[in-house]
Amino acid sequence: MGQKGKEIAKLDHGWLINELSKAYAFEWVVHYYASLASNVLSGHRTTVYSKIFKKAAEGEFEHANKIAKRIAELGGEPPSAMEDIEKLAGFGKVAFPKNRSDTAGFVKIFLEMERHAIELYNDLAHKTHGKDLVTHELAEDLLAEEVAEEEEYENMLRE
Ligand SMILES: [Fe+2]
Repeated sequence: MGQKGKEIAKLDHGWLINELSKAYAFEWVVHYYASLASNVLSGHRTTVYSKIFKKAAEGEFEHANKIAKRIAELGGEPPSAMEDIEKLAGFGKVAFPKNRSDTAGFVKIFLEMERHAIELYNDLAHKTHGKDLVTHELAEDLLAEEVAEEEEYENMLRE
């Protein structure tokens, strides 16, 4: 980001880059697991649900890229070691249902992830409010998308 662009972000940039790195890592974790879910699902609903999770994986990958762009604008770089990604994401272990046709079991995991993301972006939106408008807007956009996705997963569980 240009000089002026950096100046107007009135927050400690080191702190901000660290917060964004955690979000970036979390998006990668969700991207990975959604992609994996789309590949390991089985049973009669495989076609529908593997498409749902594939689309989710693409969405989270896009989120990760938007965050990476913001990190670069602030003069930073996303975490370079894959082994740091899971730690930084701070979500803990993910265990898929043993029964690979348990679609509700899969949906519940991603619902938990959406809720984690909602907390993350809600927090980031609050902390950047009035201080870093660009990150604030990004956090709001991502928050709105995660809220919509939470709703979609909740609806799937009602089917
Ligand atoms: Fe996301």
